[in-house]
Amino acid sequence: MSSPELDVVEFLLTAAVYTENGDLDERDLPPRYRRVFWSEGDIERPLATTGNTAAAATGVDRPWEAVSGLMFTERDDFSGTIDLSDRDMAESWYVQRVDTERIQENPTLASHFEAEMDEIDYQSSRERNRPVHADRVWIDSLLDEMFDEDDEEMLDLVEVKAPEEVEITMNDLVLTEDQEGEIEKVVKAIEHRDYLAEIGLREIGKLLFVGPPGTGKTSVARALARELDLPFVEVKLSMITSQYLGETAKNVDKTFEVAKRLSPCILFMDEFDFVAKTRSSDEHAAIKRAVNTLLKSIDEVSLIQDDVLLIGATNHPDQLDAAAWRRFDEIVNFPKPDAGMRADILEVVTRRMEIDDFDPAEVADLTEGLTGSDLRLVLREAVLDALTEERTTLTQADLRRAVEGFEERDNLKNMDDFDNWKGTRSDESENGEGDSHDHSDHDHTHESTEVEPPSE
Ligand SMILES: Nc1ncnc2c1ncn2[C@@H]1O[C@H](COP(=O)(O)OP(=O)(O)OP(=O)(O)O)[C@@H](O)[C@H]1O
Ligand SMILES: [Mg+2]
Repeated sequence: MSSPELDVVEFLLTAAVYTENGDLDERDLPPRYRRVFWSEGDIERPLATTGNTAAAATGVDRPWEAVSGLMFTERDDFSGTIDLSDRDMAESWYVQRVDTERIQENPTLASHFEAEMDEIDYQSSRERNRPVHADRVWIDSLLDEMFDEDDEEMLDLVEVKAPEEVEITMNDLVLTEDQEGEIEKVVKAIEHRDYLAEIGLREIGKLLFVGPPGTGKTSVARALARELDLPFVEVKLSMITSQYLGETAKNVDKTFEVAKRLSPCILFMDEFDFVAKTRSSDEHAAIKRAVNTLLKSIDEVSLIQDDVLLIGATNHPDQLDAAAWRRFDEIVNFPKPDAGMRADILEVVTRRMEIDDFDPAEVADLTEGLTGSDLRLVLREAVLDALTEERTTLTQADLRRAVEGFEERDNLKNMDDFDNWKGTRSDESENGEGDSHDHSDHDHTHESTEVEPPSE
């Protein structure tokens, strides 16, 4: 069991050990402590243990009050520094109160106690500790370093998430076998980067996710970042050009620079079809330049050499030309879910809901053609409708009704823009208008999207 007293003593001990042992580095500090001591991309010794740093690192509101009753602590009233007046006493007090698992989670302490405690293994503790590049503060300090105020708009175009900020997990997603296989391959490739470099296999680590809206492309990419503890760098390609045309090529360069600096990381490029659109139509020369820069940057970035996993996503594979297509080594298809998957998605989405007589298979049968995203909307409607009747327990009938409601809504939407359904999507840039490609293969109601690379 933990207590404020124990938490603060652990913090003080960790800081003392870290400060005196110059062989330890930031990877040996638990993320919750590390966070407090980052400054300009670095952690400097000695680690200052004041009331403030102790509170921030442990979450204990009044750290000094928590430990002032112990015989081995002291405080300097002037500087606010909290210290251990008797290290030996503090160590034996601490060791008597924690299990080895807790020490094992703190590489700094593991290094210290390894010699005297059999079950403690410093090396594995360090390997298990969350990597530095997964810390939000580390990401922020790097971005601060890279961008000054003139570059602010760049940061609007690229969104960087720390894995700790990604909420969706692989467990929340229902994948096809094919998707699972592809993801497993990437995970293995990342794990064995050194081996792949050694045998000269460098063309790996560029994935293209292909499928209609709402089939989980963005979600899978994010969940991967979380699962692999990698920063997630997201770029919407249409955004990159929509703002300052002349700057576009520079923005593309910068994006890749950000990804390389943050590496290992995932670089997610949404709306990849945008590339093809601008190549094939009569766009502004600046955009053409940017697209060429982009294609070149993609060639130059590598999972094996730069530790950047590139994931592109598109709703319109038919618009991608061969030049864009051949830059990806794996194509992952995101079809609309079949009945079995729909039932599984319904199970996942309703995990924390109470539903009387819940029969996911029946709802799945009623929802042919709907995506994971559609199913979430259906359930949201059911929940809100029940709430208007002051109910928080749903019934199967509520779900059926919500499906009907959704279909009506969908019909209205299709009537409005039969040929150009994507025109209603708020995230489409004005580029959508001038685009005269044939959309018939991507009719909203198709059960799945066939993916075939265009011939060269
Ligand atoms: N296979 C799935 N399993 C579980 N949830 C899913 C699945 N597919 C989609 N969803 C849910 O639907 C929502 C939208 O998914 P997401 O944004 O990942 O789709 P997308 O393919 O990126 O769409 P777009 O092409 O419009 O960007 C998310 O909340 C996601 O959790
Ligand atoms: Mg998406």
